[in-house]
Amino acid sequence: MTHQNSDAFVFFGATGDLAYKKIFPALQAMIRHGELDMPIIGIARAGWSLDKLRTRARESVQEHGGVDKAAFAKLAAQLRYVDGDYNEPTTYERVCQALNGARRPVHYLAIPPSMFATVVQGLAHAGCARNARVIVEKPFGRDLASARALNRTLHEVFPESSVFRIDHYLGKEAVQNLVYFRFANSFLEPLWNRNYIDNVQITMAEKFGVQGRGGFYEEVGAVRDVVQNHLLQVIALLAMDAPTGRDPDAMRAEKLRLFRAMRPLDPAEVVRGQFRGYRDEDGVAADSKVETFAAMRLHIDTWRWAGVPFYIRTGKRLPITTTEVTVDLKCPPLPMFDRITAQQSNYFRFRLSPEVVISTGARVKTAGDEMVGEPVELVARRSPASEDFPYERLLSDAIKGDASLFTRDDSVEAAWRVVEPILGNVTPVHSYAPGTWGPAAAAKIVVAGEGWYNPKPERAPPC
Ligand code: BG6
Repeated sequence: MTHQNSDAFVFFGATGDLAYKKIFPALQAMIRHGELDMPIIGIARAGWSLDKLRTRARESVQEHGGVDKAAFAKLAAQLRYVDGDYNEPTTYERVCQALNGARRPVHYLAIPPSMFATVVQGLAHAGCARNARVIVEKPFGRDLASARALNRTLHEVFPESSVFRIDHYLGKEAVQNLVYFRFANSFLEPLWNRNYIDNVQITMAEKFGVQGRGGFYEEVGAVRDVVQNHLLQVIALLAMDAPTGRDPDAMRAEKLRLFRAMRPLDPAEVVRGQFRGYRDEDGVAADSKVETFAAMRLHIDTWRWAGVPFYIRTGKRLPITTTEVTVDLKCPPLPMFDRITAQQSNYFRFRLSPEVVISTGARVKTAGDEMVGEPVELVARRSPASEDFPYERLLSDAIKGDASLFTRDDSVEAAWRVVEPILGNVTPVHSYAPGTWGPAAAAKIVVAGEGWYNPKPERAPPC
């Protein structure tokens, strides 16, 4: 399907943290690749001038990837700034003026969801939502009811085909490669089911804490911040059936089927944790029960996956920063030689960040008289930490109107339905020491087998 490109890029929240860390570096990269030849209009209520925004943009790219002189000069020249209160109709009138005749703007709401309704209605009243697209940031709602309400709000002004919900994990090269690897290789399909797979684990570990975002984090916690979106999305890509056809909606339809087959999480199969020291962070309540760690067992009720546990774990202040998936195959049915445990046996490993790795675990005989072996890894892809910005890819796609990598209203709601039973304080929060793999209680989530795989620093292969 072909779509018309947007002809102006408008972003709300221009002076914020997300703009600083992700948006400006992505905009510079888009200009470098010739994908953003249009007015770029930043909006915020900060009392700033355009020059101050340009300085901020320069600092942002300096810190995140470096300044590309030519591309940055263009970015600075294309940049406009509208300072105004989101509650004031005149703000949107000035946005319309800044559009300067552009007819198909894309409006990016890099602002708290509590402001979505106000901004969307403001744009509509001023007449600058016509033929426009809207990009919204996560968190998309706080639970199923609020996600539905947000969808209704957006749909009052924008049809679903013009709504682009960002989950930056879907723009990551490693996540794209996971999808490619699954569906471009026929050897996987016969194995990819309950007959051969024992369990699947995904660990998203971060060595750092909440990095000054205590106030934001108090509102979300680990389950809302990364499980409902990034991690369930990765599981959906890993576990869904092959889409029938290349239409973006074919892929989204399969993902939706998978989300709907996920059994809502059972609080008895969830362990929440909080690192010691979290309560001393700025913006965090002294008696906060918000989780900075969560581990859980998920079930997918399909013929392909019945009985295969999916173990999900994430946390701040863990020993390492990485996201890794392991798909553990069952052990040989009878021990012929040495005893083999599940983790020393066959598996597929997908490291999604910071490096990109796809490998498979196998066993070979150790040289000598005895029939004993050792584990080895066959590496299909090992690339160093990527300099690519997932935001560049996603924002470029939204400008082109390609919704393949964005989450649809029905999928977002289906994912909320999965986490809904474990939101809030329905389970106790255990404290854990920074630099560890979370509270000891998390061990009980992995039933049978060898426990959690703890990802290690990735070593370059021997030359
Ligand atoms: C964000 C979360 O969505 O993803 C952060 O809000 C988290 O808490 C981040 O640190 C991780 O993304 P990445 O791409 O930096 O690994």
